[in-house]
Amino acid sequence: MSDRTSTTEETLRSAVAAARLAPSIFNTQPWRWQIRDNTLELRADRSRQLAATDPDGRMLMISCGVALHHVRVALAAEGHQALVDTLPDAEDPDLVARITLAGAAAPAGARLREAIARRHTDRRPFADTPVSEAFVDQLRTSSETYGVYVAELARDSMVRFQVTAARAGELDEGDPARQAELLEWTHRPTGSGDGVPPATAVPATPRKIPLRTFFPDGAEGLLPGPGHDGGARYLVLWTTDDEPSDWLATGQAMSLALLETTASGLAASPMTDVIEVPASRMLLHRLLDNLGHAQVALRVGVPVAGEAAPETPRRAVAEMITEK
Ligand SMILES: Cc1cc2nc3c(=O)[nH]c(=O)nc-3n(C[C@H](O)[C@H](O)[C@H](O)COP(=O)(O)O)c2cc1C
Repeated sequence: MSDRTSTTEETLRSAVAAARLAPSIFNTQPWRWQIRDNTLELRADRSRQLAATDPDGRMLMISCGVALHHVRVALAAEGHQALVDTLPDAEDPDLVARITLAGAAAPAGARLREAIARRHTDRRPFADTPVSEAFVDQLRTSSETYGVYVAELARDSMVRFQVTAARAGELDEGDPARQAELLEWTHRPTGSGDGVPPATAVPATPRKIPLRTFFPDGAEGLLPGPGHDGGARYLVLWTTDDEPSDWLATGQAMSLALLETTASGLAASPMTDVIEVPASRMLLHRLLDNLGHAQVALRVGVPVAGEAAPETPRRAVAEMITEK
């Protein structure tokens, strides 16, 4: 292997190491990477798809989009120009993206790169301090670069959103196949490097909108703290169509929104049971005046001062790379 080849390979491996920290549905990390010369291929790993919770693969594809965006951020910060071809082969729909190194560029986006390791889903209630309008506008603009729109659930929609979230919870909890899947991904074997551990989940607590129940047996290990989500804002990322390419774009916009959130000293937790459960997705759709297709809801807020949100495990980079 020439020096140039090994440097290219190291660059791409280090970008995969950054993408390893990407958030994913139930921390399933449903992706595989393959390095071919100066190209990195991202594939959906269907063996990690949630068959009952995510039968269409929407959340899988959104998660792959988040990982793809993390790779782009890592390469840009290191001064690499990357050409990205998404869903390049209609005959091979699991080939999510081909990323080709195309020479040097001025390093960009150090703040987002730095946020990758610091970002964690924070399920604790946020403070009463409001998130600024300017910040929401910034997320609106950045999402639109991916063709993804941000709608905010207005104050006067909160009661109906609360009902929608509660209904999603009931339907989810009443579905044995979904509950079996939840149990599987919240009780992973030691060393699996994936799944949602009890230490990252908070018990039910007084807050504006209920979050997904990860541990119906009450095994949550994270103290909720004194917040009540008073200043939290609820944002919905939506697209005009509802194809895998829209899900992928949503994932990229979601990654950008989450990294911007962390870089700005704010915190977030995705809320997607309202989207995964078809009846709640319909309710949400109506709540948004039938705007396009809701893909992801995000609770964004000012964290209550205290300990940083806990880290969640990840698989080793070597387990995510298919060797030639
Ligand atoms: C597409 C997607 C959907 C998610 N849905 C939820 C959700 O409904 N509720 C929740 O608390 N977390 C949700 N998450 C957060 C994941 O559970 C979390 O990213 C994962 O456990 C890894 O933890 P980390 O974000 O702290 O690294 C979602 C993440 C993604 C990417």
